[in-house]
This record gives sequence, structure tokens and C-alpha cells, in this order.
Amino acid sequence: MINKLGVIGAGYVGLVSAACFADLGFKVCVVDYDTQKIDALKNAIIPIHEPQLAELVKKSINNNHLTFSESYNDIEDCCAVIMTVGTPSNDDGSANLDYLYSATRELMNVAKDGCVIILKSTVPIGTAKNIMKLVPDTKHFHIVNNPEFLREGNAIYDFQNPDRIVIGMSSDEPKAIISYLYSHFIKQDVPILFTDNTTAETIKYASNSYLAMRIAFINEITTLCETSGANISDTAEGMGMDARIGKHYLHPGPGFGGSCFPKDTKALSYFATSNELDLPIIQNIMHSNLNRIEDLIEKLHSTFSSNQCKNIAVLGLTFKANTDDMRDSPAIPIVKALLKNGYSLKFYDPSHTTQIKEYLDITLQNSIDEALDGADAAVILTEWSEFQLISPQKFEHSLNKKVIYDMRNILNSEVILKQGLKYFALGFSPSTL
Ligand code: UGA
Repeated sequence: MINKLGVIGAGYVGLVSAACFADLGFKVCVVDYDTQKIDALKNAIIPIHEPQLAELVKKSINNNHLTFSESYNDIEDCCAVIMTVGTPSNDDGSANLDYLYSATRELMNVAKDGCVIILKSTVPIGTAKNIMKLVPDTKHFHIVNNPEFLREGNAIYDFQNPDRIVIGMSSDEPKAIISYLYSHFIKQDVPILFTDNTTAETIKYASNSYLAMRIAFINEITTLCETSGANISDTAEGMGMDARIGKHYLHPGPGFGGSCFPKDTKALSYFATSNELDLPIIQNIMHSNLNRIEDLIEKLHSTFSSNQCKNIAVLGLTFKANTDDMRDSPAIPIVKALLKNGYSLKFYDPSHTTQIKEYLDITLQNSIDEALDGADAAVILTEWSEFQLISPQKFEHSLNKKVIYDMRNILNSEVILKQGLKYFALGFSPSTL
């Protein structure tokens, strides 16, 4: 039985977890120091763009399953508390645990004996053991790792349909509470892996780094296809048909971004270096990703200059579709390079991301039409479905030099070429188009 579930940190993992556990029937209280954010959340105003989240939060506020507070006193009676505070990268690639440690100390000051502290924040290998050392001699808490595998933009779906649940703990004592928390999924036969804390921490880093590596790999194969004349779509499909490989995370793009893959890959690499380990695959994933972006910047520049394109419509800025998250978006270095090279740019992003000013000194247009108006060429940087719906006629009519650079391979090349447009995509040599 869980009387009340605490969640510390009202970021995307915290909000999604809180809303979904509340939807499963738990009483959940989310605590965050940011009073402005908490005030907004009390009125069901969500600070991030995440499909279905606003509806779920509103529903759970209305049926009194979800509350928000800036005070740890409101979670002092919880028998389980989920930590979802951020662990951003330090300059050297290591994860910054300041928020996590200060939140854990604060929680330990108020939490009742026996409380299960569940680390959902992505934490470096060994963190749970260090947190155990913070437990005061007079108190007894359980530290459990429960890494999350949600994708931004699909977070609610991923929470409700997990492939697996990973639980790391140092004794069997918290197992009953954790099993109760996840009973809905256990009943549905979702695999649940109970292991030790360090292994759970490693599973999270290894999973994200592996997926990042697959993307870096397919992007390298994409470059290879551009020289060999092979078709990248068929290549990826043919690889993915092998059950041992599988089809996911083999879609070429302008490199991986977001708040997780770059940060976690760097942190794992930092762990290797600081432990004097030579792990060349892991230590080179970021290198490959940075090369990817540099390579595409050169290709864009050469395509635009050889087609006398000066005015460019940039479609999509967030690190992927269905989010307003700009963190480590490949669009940032690409846009900076285009601006540096003297291009005149107009931008549109369907999320109307308010984070933009933190990363780029630019102004967004209100619509695709406004961005395309007066442009010589368009570059698609994010795979928003509304870009797929732009008709070839619209592109043909709007673009003076008829050039499209599709960095997500989302347009139908046959239809685009039939319209007389010059179409550049990833992994296709000009001769195969
Ligand atoms: C990632 C993981 O997929 C989640 O399992 C994990 O929980 C999360 O990090 C986290 O640690 O919090 P997320 O960063 O939201 O999720 O985004 P993804 O959908 O995995 O995409 C990451 C990047 O890879 C994006 O830039 C995306 O455009 C790129 N990508 C993805 C490709 O270029 N090709 C692909 O085939 C797939």
C-alpha cells in the first residue's frame, strides 16, 4: 500500500511520471522549488510541450489525485518518493549532481523512517551507493534505482507501454512497495528486472549510449551511401529485417540531440576516462555525432552556393518532432553556421518553442507560408509531420531556386522531383535521384 507518492522535480520526467501514476490511482504530490512553475501547474498550465500531458494533469488535479507544492513538508509522510531532478552535463562531460544531492538531503530531513527513495534521474554509476552514505545514522531509508526510458514527445505512451521496468536495490526490503507501485504493469506481464543499484545505473547509460551509437552508425553508413550510390532507406530496411539487428533507431538525420543521448554518452565516456579505461566505441560516439553535423554544414553550404541560394527557409528547430525542447538540437550549430556564412534565414517551428532565445538570437515566423515567402531554398531540420504535408506545388511556387534540403528524409522524392524541384536528402547520391 502506498499512502501518497512524492515526486521531486517538475521537469518532463517528473511531470509525466506524476501524471501517469496519478492516472493509475495513486495520490501524488509533486514538489519543486520553482514557485512560478508550481503556481502554473496548480492551474494545469504545463511548462513543456508533451502530447497528452496537459489533459492528464488536468484530469488528475480535478479528481484530487495530483497536487503540487514548493514545500518538502507536503511529502514528509510519503512512504515512497521519486527523484526526478535534472543531472545536466558539467563542462568536462561529467554529470552535475548538485541538484540531486541537495534535494536528497532536504528529503532526508523530513522523510519518515523506511521511506523508499526512488532515483529516476539519470545518475552516474555509483551514485546510489554515495547517496546511501548520506542517510543519517538515526534514520533508515531505502535507495532504489528505477531508470526511465521515456522518449520526449512520446512520453505518456512510453510510460503506459513500457518494454521493461528496471529496479536496482541493495536489499529485498523495498521490493513490496516497488511491486505495488508497478502492480498495474506486473499484471500485464511487463518484464520487471530486479537487480542491484550499480547494475540499474549501468543499464540506463548503456541503453542510451547504445541507441546513440546506432544513430551515429547509420549516419556514417548514410555518408557511405552518398559515395557508393546505394540507397540508405533500403539499406536500413534490409539491416533492420534481421531480427538480431531490428529496425529501430536506424533512421538517418542531422545527428542525435536532446537532453539525454549527448549528456549520457559524454558521462559514460567521462566515467571510462576517469577510471583509465580504454573504451574506444563509447569514447567515439560523440566524435562521430559532431563530425556528422560538420559534414552536413559543409554539404548545405556547397548545395546552396552552387544553386545561388541566399535566402533560406529553415523548417524545424527542436531536436526532434513533437517537443519544444531545444537542448543540444543539431539545428543550433547548423543555423549558427548558416548565419556566419551570410545567408538570410527565416524560421518556422510547429512547437513555437519559447526556449529559442536561450540558444539562438532569431525570431520565429508564425507559419510555414511566412517562412517560405521570398526564400530561394528550404531546409528541413526536424521531422514534424506538418512538413510532410507541404505540397510539392507549394514548394515549387514559393522557392525561387527550387531547392529543398531534407535532413530527415521525410519528403517523397519521386513526387518532389516530378514537380521540377531540386531535392537533396540524406544518403542519396545526386545520380540516384
Ligand atoms: C532518449 C531515449 O530514447 C529514451 O529511452 C530515454 O528515456 C531518454 O532519452 C532519456 O534518457 O530521458 P529522447 O532523448 O527523448 O529519448 O529522444 P529519442 O526519440 O530517443 O531521440 C534522440 C535523438 O536521436 C533525437 O535527436 C532524434 O532525432 C535522433 N534519432 C532517433 C535519429 O536521428 N534517428 C533515429 O532513428 C532515432
